[in-house]
Amino acid sequence: MAQKLVVGNWKLNGSLAANEALLGAIGALDGVEVAVCVPFPYLAQAASRPRGVALGAQTVSEFQSGAYTGEVSAEMLADLGCRYVIVGHSERRALFGEDDAMVGRKAAAALRAGLTPIVCVGESLAEREAGRVLEVVGRQLDAVLAVVGAQALARGVIAYEPVWAIGTGRAASVDEAQAVHADIRRWLAGQGAATVRVLYGGSVKADNAAALFAAPGIDGGLIGGASLVANDFMSICRTAVASGA
Ligand code: PGA
Repeated sequence: MAQKLVVGNWKLNGSLAANEALLGAIGALDGVEVAVCVPFPYLAQAASRPRGVALGAQTVSEFQSGAYTGEVSAEMLADLGCRYVIVGHSERRALFGEDDAMVGRKAAAALRAGLTPIVCVGESLAEREAGRVLEVVGRQLDAVLAVVGAQALARGVIAYEPVWAIGTGRAASVDEAQAVHADIRRWLAGQGAATVRVLYGGSVKADNAAALFAAPGIDGGLIGGASLVANDFMSICRTAVASGA
């Protein structure tokens, strides 16, 4: 089994002082790849420590440079030492008007700059209840594939994040997550991208991570709330070590 990837998504949280404490209490572990995706202004702070923890951002501009006030390019993120960038998080889709095509362009921008996009896909509760999980996730994946192509897609990471599980304390059950991961894996294999890692995100906590990470096809997690508490985040990372390699 390959080494798992655990990514913290700090969202709109932090301050220089709070980050200092959090970054000082997390660290790399043998047997798991750990990354933190921090708000733009704190990238430099997070880049300086801790060693072995990969750095990422939470979104990126689809544009490279020019008259796009307020935007941050993938090249800038690479310049600051980022390895990862989250694209298409459901909060970006729902609150900031990012559609499937834009998510594809953002993933392409990340790949062009040598970053690894963590492409988020997932259905709402209404879509799940209507039996449309596969259709929605398939549409989101197809849109990215259409822009980046299969070869570049193979350099990305997918995060399955059911919208109803994000920040709600109600994670998908192992069976629910595993079923969608299996579908995503089938789709990836069909594109010749079978080696792409597929993370699960949505209310992953220290007490449910072990069961989720042990499930076949789940290569790690994208962690929101629990990534802000050093002990919780590190305990999730240790769980990933135990269920990896
Ligand atoms: P959560 O968030 O762990 O707080 O549910 C996950 C995410 O939004 O990436």
